[in-house]
Amino acid sequence: MYTQAMDLMGKEAGAPQAVASPEEQALQQRFDARIDAGEFIEAKDWLPENYRKTLVRQISQHAHSEIVGMLPEGNWVTRAPTLKRKAILLAKIQDEAGHGLYLYSAAETLGTSRDQMLAALHSGRAKYSSIFNYPTLTWADVGVIGWLVDGAAIMNQVPLCRCSYGPYARAMVRICREESFHQRQGFDALLTMVQKGTDAQRAMVQDAVNRWWWPSLMMFGPPDDQSPNSAQSMRWGIKRISNDELRQKFIDACVQQARVLGVGLPDPDLKWNEERQAHDHGAIDWDEFWRVVGGDGPCNRERLAARVQAWDDGAWVREAALAHAEKQARRERAAA
Ligand code: 3HC
Repeated sequence: MYTQAMDLMGKEAGAPQAVASPEEQALQQRFDARIDAGEFIEAKDWLPENYRKTLVRQISQHAHSEIVGMLPEGNWVTRAPTLKRKAILLAKIQDEAGHGLYLYSAAETLGTSRDQMLAALHSGRAKYSSIFNYPTLTWADVGVIGWLVDGAAIMNQVPLCRCSYGPYARAMVRICREESFHQRQGFDALLTMVQKGTDAQRAMVQDAVNRWWWPSLMMFGPPDDQSPNSAQSMRWGIKRISNDELRQKFIDACVQQARVLGVGLPDPDLKWNEERQAHDHGAIDWDEFWRVVGGDGPCNRERLAARVQAWDDGAWVREAALAHAEKQARRERAAA
């Protein structure tokens, strides 16, 4: 159950901030009116501190998810079954790196720095999507990640193209276009395995679906009644559709796609509800979700260690780039 951080977030993000002066009250009212009118808030505009904090939290964690998300698939670059699949996988992973850089840049417009965000990740204070703490055991996992994980990411990210914070919304437009390629390439890899593969490869696909289905549903976040951030984020136009509603849309879309693949979804309670015009589904194991979010998933330690190692190994590149930039700046000052 989500308790400590929920209290913290409730106090920080959602509680009304004491607005000090009449000028601030006027600025707050103007901000509220612009949010209500569906306008984009830009980096140069006045914005409330807890709106800024919420955006830094969400955008930086989104960026961390993109960067950490490269690790599970990176495991399969040297093991891809053909040169074509290797090239596609390399392109996808490279896209994810770009998404991370886009999002770190969007977060920096809010006054935080790359170093601060990465220090929060490396120290374990910042989160990244729990889905990336699961292992990629076979090549079918790479296809299922494309189909389910990137599929869930698209479902969750398209509404963010209408997020009230302009730099975030604009970053999401390009990211969503590339995510569509990610989902397509994963689905295509699975289709090849199930249609042209052996029985063993078909079983490999089903095994991967069985392992990734439930953690993919958790990507949308906790149930709405356990989400400390949703209400305020929806009032601010950051979150446009609730966690549960997006999860339901994703489930309904996947049932059809699973039929095309000829795979079963590992939920005996999954069935169409005529009255709801949606699929009923079994209970999600939220204890597992909070355990993995809390750092006790199958690969949490490995993922974080890989990121810290990459940061340490890259120190010399950062130092060299900074030294070059400073030398350049000195030259230009001397020439001015
Ligand atoms: N993994 C880890 N933590 C999660 C989580 C998940 N799947 N879902 C929710 N949480 C965390 C939240 O960050 C929050 O903790 P915090 O307050 O310390 O940050 C807490 O659980 C409660 O969740 P809420 O629903 O109240 O929090 P939000 O309102 O922030 O909603 C969210 C969670 C829907 C993930 C929202 O933050 C969001 O839309 N983020 C942007 C999209 C994103 O980050 N997607 C992650 C995947 S990116 C990806 O898959 C890349 C693709 O290329 C593969």
